[in-house]
Amino acid sequence: MSLREIPVQELTPLEAMAELKELAHLLAQADVEYYQNDSPSLTDAQYDSLKKRNEAIESRFPELTLAESPSFKVGAKVAEGFDKITHLTPMLSLSNIFEENEILEFTDRIRRFLNLSSEDALDFVAEPKIDGLSYSALYENGIYVKGATRGDGTQGEDITANLATIQGLPKKLIAPFPKKIEIRGEVYMTKADFFALNDEQEKLGKKTFANPRNAAAGSLRQLDPTITASRKLSVFAYTIGFSSEEMWTTHAELLEHLKRWGFPVSLEISLCQNDDELLSYYRQMGEKRASLSYDIDGVVYKVNRLDYQRRLGFISRAPRWAIAHKFPPMQAQTLLKKIRIQVGRTGVLTPVADLEPINVGGVMVSHATLHNADEIERKDIREGDTVIIQRAGDVIPQIVSVLKDKRPLNSIPFEFPKLCPICHSHVARDPDEAAHYCTGGLICPKQAVERLKHFVSREALDIEGLGKKNIETFFEKGWIKTPIDIFYLKEHYSKALLNTEGWGEKSVQNLWGAIQKVTDGTPLDKFIFALGIRQVGQSTARLLAEQFGSFSHLNEEMQKETAVQELTRIDGIGEVMATDIIDFFREPNNEKLLTELQNKIKLLPFHVNRVQTPFTGKTLVFTGSLEHMTRMEAKSLALAAGAKVSGSVSSKTDFVILGADAGSKAKKAQELGITTLTEKEFKDRLEII
Ligand code: IVH
Repeated sequence: MSLREIPVQELTPLEAMAELKELAHLLAQADVEYYQNDSPSLTDAQYDSLKKRNEAIESRFPELTLAESPSFKVGAKVAEGFDKITHLTPMLSLSNIFEENEILEFTDRIRRFLNLSSEDALDFVAEPKIDGLSYSALYENGIYVKGATRGDGTQGEDITANLATIQGLPKKLIAPFPKKIEIRGEVYMTKADFFALNDEQEKLGKKTFANPRNAAAGSLRQLDPTITASRKLSVFAYTIGFSSEEMWTTHAELLEHLKRWGFPVSLEISLCQNDDELLSYYRQMGEKRASLSYDIDGVVYKVNRLDYQRRLGFISRAPRWAIAHKFPPMQAQTLLKKIRIQVGRTGVLTPVADLEPINVGGVMVSHATLHNADEIERKDIREGDTVIIQRAGDVIPQIVSVLKDKRPLNSIPFEFPKLCPICHSHVARDPDEAAHYCTGGLICPKQAVERLKHFVSREALDIEGLGKKNIETFFEKGWIKTPIDIFYLKEHYSKALLNTEGWGEKSVQNLWGAIQKVTDGTPLDKFIFALGIRQVGQSTARLLAEQFGSFSHLNEEMQKETAVQELTRIDGIGEVMATDIIDFFREPNNEKLLTELQNKIKLLPFHVNRVQTPFTGKTLVFTGSLEHMTRMEAKSLALAAGAKVSGSVSSKTDFVILGADAGSKAKKAQELGITTLTEKEFKDRLEII
């Protein structure tokens, strides 16, 4: 039985530890695939269920929460090129639900947290979940002064000029307004504007966008705001991040103020007083979805009373007072024209289906992933078949099934090629793995290019100016064949580059600057990740950096007989991964490259960043009846502050928080000389009153 089949309540601490590590690894990998490679491997539902399981295990075993826990992560990294803005309060994400019966779990959880009975009123505001990208806009004395993207939630990109080009965003608020207020909402493109933009792009021979969300993101995040200005973007406002004054006590009232100040607010918003009303809102919006002028991917339920919102607070990076209820994936029927084989960085061959382009829920789809040969065989997918495809969120469309009765008579089963379509080397397959590989290794040009793209990518060495297209061009010209060539580009091809179309004095200088930045100092974990060792994603690279401290130490250890033990001692690295890592370091072809790279690049040691609070790493015990918060609320505050919460006082306890009528535990704390705090002192130390 695999660990995920064991109910969380039955996990032993050891099993929980193993599974948390595995989940951190899986989810980090999925993040890279989603944000960095633009090729998500999990559907929203799969991702969400793994994340939920991770949260459930963490809440049962808070002390096992990993530093690299997926619960601490939100959204994408800030892109280079824009200045950074630190948000006044973090811009968070929403937890998702997919099933109708989860509405009850959500409202129940809130009632329990707030200690409300089923008779007590608990209103929600239900809103459409707009499929765009979030922005924050700061107003001082009613004047728009700053705009930012969400970024990683803490820091976003400064898009002040870009956001200012959007007509719907008020540049001046209608009085009365707070002196300083940060408005948050969604930038999106209407379906009509999206189709018009794609037509235009096509006419000009430029890249078209896959869906309205991508078009909005691509248009907003332009370093040159005149491009943003030329695209039709729209905004909705749905919340605030900060306000110097508050003249409202509910979310519904806040929305009224937003409208009055001049912001567009969705017309589809509704106040719901019970679960049935939430459910019927969800169903209604599901029906209305296709006819709306903009894309929505679900609905959002928010607790209406702001005092409740404040008490409910946040769990990891999402509010406890709101949730997104997602719609099921959209499906369509189309013709599979051809099965094409793609070659990846590590030589993995991935079959891709070329489809007769089809509109799936407002988005044109022309490719679908087929994963691997087994998947094709299991579903008996053939060229010429009519297939049902589905699109869920931003995940690459998938083939759900084949309509066998529509299959042409002369159809033949698909045969996986025996030779690599690029370098014609033999194709091999590991008996334990589903994937086929090109055995061409270093001679396969596609693998070489993909490895280079990975090397310079944002999550790796992050060399701005060396995007995918440029890597391809430089590779074709023979300027960059292996990673080390990047560092000789300036010396050898400065003149040639200046004479190349699309390059000018400024862009060439910028490129040299970006390369210099890498040679001046690159974090060790990023360097290890950049090497593209099979199976080594960002989190494993971080583990290796943390464990071995320096690259030369890691390299030395990998040459020794004890290498496997050294690696498998690290939590999160198993034997199969260890073999891949060791193979990489022992490969004679890599040896020379690694030495040369080390001579060129100054590698910086790895540091772990954790937010410190007075309770970080401490063990707390709550006793007596708390007056201003429920026990659950207190516990979640403590956990969020990095503390462990225990049920009994012992010599290992650091603080005992005393509520009214505290009994034997208070006495024991006194006997053991443990610091006691009142409820207020506890909150004061957390700086929330
Ligand atoms: S409220 C703290 N309301 O969904 C919660 N978000 O998955 C703040 N979104 O980052 C978000 N429509 O980009 C909220 N009516 C709505 C929304 C909405 C779309 C997006 C937003 C957020 C993401 C979370």
